[in-house]
Amino acid sequence: MDSRGNSKTSDQQISAAVIYELIDGFTRTQIISVAAELGIADLLMEGPKDIYELATSADAHPRALQRILRALASLGIFAEREDGRFELTSLAEPLQSGVPGSMRDFAIMYGQEWYWKPWGNLLDSVRTGESAFEHVHGKDLFGYLGEDEQAASVFNGAMTSITGEGVNPILESYDFSDFAKIVDVGGGHGTLIVAVLKAHPQMRGVLFDLPSVAEGAKVIIQEAGVADRCEMAGGDFFESVPVGGDVYVLKFVIHDWDDDRTIAILRNCRKAITRDGKLLLVERGIVPHSNEPAPIKFMDLHMLVITGGIERTEAEIGALFEAAGFKLTKVIPTGSPDNVIVEGIPV
Ligand SMILES: C[S@@+](CC[C@H](N)C(=O)[O-])C[C@H]1O[C@@H](n2cnc3c(N)ncnc32)[C@H](O)[C@@H]1O
Repeated sequence: MDSRGNSKTSDQQISAAVIYELIDGFTRTQIISVAAELGIADLLMEGPKDIYELATSADAHPRALQRILRALASLGIFAEREDGRFELTSLAEPLQSGVPGSMRDFAIMYGQEWYWKPWGNLLDSVRTGESAFEHVHGKDLFGYLGEDEQAASVFNGAMTSITGEGVNPILESYDFSDFAKIVDVGGGHGTLIVAVLKAHPQMRGVLFDLPSVAEGAKVIIQEAGVADRCEMAGGDFFESVPVGGDVYVLKFVIHDWDDDRTIAILRNCRKAITRDGKLLLVERGIVPHSNEPAPIKFMDLHMLVITGGIERTEAEIGALFEAAGFKLTKVIPTGSPDNVIVEGIPV
C-alpha cells in the first residue's frame, strides 16, 4: 500500500469487479443459449457472414443480434472480423449441432424457462433441501419431460451428446470382454450400450428406461446395427429392473436421486444381477474433500435444484452400495473429466 492507501483501494476494486462478473453470470448463460437456439454456429460453418445475412437466416433483429454476438466475441465465442463479418472460433465450435462434443442442446436447455425458473427458486431448495423444480413445476423432472416433448427432446439430446463424448474413454478404461449380458439401467437413447455392444460382438444387452424414452431409442439401436443383440425394455427402476445381466451399468443415474431412492434402485439391481456380476456406476465425478476448483461441486447444485439428487464422495457411494447389498471394489478414472466409473460386486 502507498502513502495514500491506493493499492488497498485497487484490491477492493478488483474484488468488486470479479464478484460483479460472477454475479452477472446469468447473462453469459442466456446469450450463449440464444446463440445456440438461433443456430448461429451452424450458420457460420461454411465461413464468415455479415450480420444481415445471419439475422435473416436466424429470423432475428440485426442490431440486437449484433450486440449479442459482439458480447460473445468478447468472451472468445465467435469473432468479429475487420470487415465486420462474424466467424467461428474454437470456443464457438461446440455450439454447432451434430459435431462430436456438441454442447448445443445443453446451451439451449440451460437458457430455457422450464430449466432456469427452478434456479430462481434456489432459496427454496436451500431452506427445505428439496428440489426447487418440483416446487415450481408441481412434478419431478422426469414426470415433466414425459409431458413436454420439446423439453424432452432437448434434454435427451444433451444427454446423448455428453454420453457420446464419454463413451470411448469408458471403453478404454474398463474391460467388458468377459461379460455376456449388459443391462443399461436408465440408459436413455442408448449411446453407451450401442458402443459396448459394437465393441464386444459376443455380448447381448438390454436397454432399460421409462417406456417413452426406451421407445425413442429404437431407431438409434436399429441404425447402429445391434438390434438383433439389444432388447429394449420400458419400465420403472423403482419397481424392478430386467434380470439376468452380468453387468449392470447406471450412467448418470444415481446422482438424480436422494439416498433412499438410490438405495431402492440399487436393491432392484441387486435382486436382478447374476451372482458373479458387476455393478458399474458412471458418475459425472466424485466430490473431493478440498477447496480445489471442481466442476462436480456445481453439477451437485444442478442436482439439488433440478432433480433433488446429489453428487457424492466415494465414502457416500460406498455406504449406499452397502445398504443395497453391494461392495464398492474400485473407483476408476477415465480419460474424460466427466466420467468416473465406480465398480461394485454383490455381497
Ligand atoms: C440423466 S439421464 C441419463 C441417461 C443415460 N444413462 C446417459 O448417461 O446418457 C437419467 C435417465 O434415467 C431415466 N429414468 C428416470 N426415471 C426412471 C425410472 N423411474 N425408471 C427408469 N428410468 C428412469 C431417464 O429417462 C433418463 O434417461
